[in-house]
Amino acid sequence: MAKWEKICAVADVPAGTRKVFPLSALDILIFNAGKRFYASAAECPHEGKSLEDCDLQGHVLVCKGHGYKFDLSNGKCVTEADIDLPVFPVEVREDSIWVKF
Ligand code: FES
Repeated sequence: MAKWEKICAVADVPAGTRKVFPLSALDILIFNAGKRFYASAAECPHEGKSLEDCDLQGHVLVCKGHGYKFDLSNGKCVTEADIDLPVFPVEVREDSIWVKF
């Protein structure tokens, strides 16, 4: 059953940045896109390249491995239909970021 987990303080991921948080089950990448936060797996589902240094275009990230694009709002790959990026719901509660796994 999915549960909410506190990941970090809001101040740990300033606007326009992203940061990897190692968890027991997987490494999670938190993006601060300015007006909202997103959470995804930290590795590309294509060939496993780290997404920490990917380009973020609005809510679409571009993997530097082979240029595949993923919509962070739903995890769908917009360049290769059958590859999805695991994404997770995010909530800001007071000064903390919570993610549902
Ligand atoms: S490893 Fe990300 S697109 Fe290939």
